[in-house]
Amino acid sequence: MSIVKSLIKLEFRELRSSDMKMVIDLYNSLSSDSIYYRFRGFFKDFEKYVKSVFSDSRNIVYGAFLGNELVGVLEAVYISDGCYEMAIVVKDGYQGRGIGTKLVAYAINDLKRRGIKTLIAYTTPDNYRILAISRKFHGTIKCMHDECTTVFNLQSMNINADQFLN
Ligand SMILES: CC(C)(COP(=O)(O)OP(=O)(O)OC[C@H]1O[C@@H](n2cnc3c(N)ncnc32)[C@H](O)[C@@H]1OP(=O)(O)O)[C@@H](O)C(=O)NCCC(=O)NCCS
Repeated sequence: MSIVKSLIKLEFRELRSSDMKMVIDLYNSLSSDSIYYRFRGFFKDFEKYVKSVFSDSRNIVYGAFLGNELVGVLEAVYISDGCYEMAIVVKDGYQGRGIGTKLVAYAINDLKRRGIKTLIAYTTPDNYRILAISRKFHGTIKCMHDECTTVFNLQSMNINADQFLN
């Protein structure tokens, strides 16, 4: 990240259908490693995927911005009432700088406010970054073979996500 970029404030907001192109561009910019960790395999038709996420109004998509640049996306995909699945990616070049942690904190705050009880995330056991973030937010992590499942009980979570946003 350039010095100028590091001085620009990180901001978060919910993304709308009108932001879809930005999200598709972010996915298209990803390295094969990021694609692998995000989708647990090689996934290419990002346009179709992003459109399908935005086509269900129950899904909630959050963006992290540095200035006008979208640098992170977190999707909370509706599973059932009160239960969502989380998936997150931070743009290559911006990873490992705390943006993912803050985006998860922002999303958890908002989902809690909406009364959502459970957030589930799936990952591979070698995804140290998302597993480290999951531990910070007291997720219950269970790993079997090549998959880890993390469950966040949002309403009983005795952690103030705001501390990660300041
Ligand atoms: C996973 C991802 C979203 C995390 O976002 P990020 O901005 O890179 O993560 P952060 O910088 O906020 O935090 C990473 C944490 O992992 C920790 N970490 C990194 N490498 C680690 C390792 N080898 N062992 C243990 N912890 C490690 C860091 O120390 C950091 O924790 P800290 O803040 O307590 O030091 C991002 O790396 C990404 O987009 N990866 C590719 C897609 C993906 O994996 N998505 C998740 C599955 S859906």
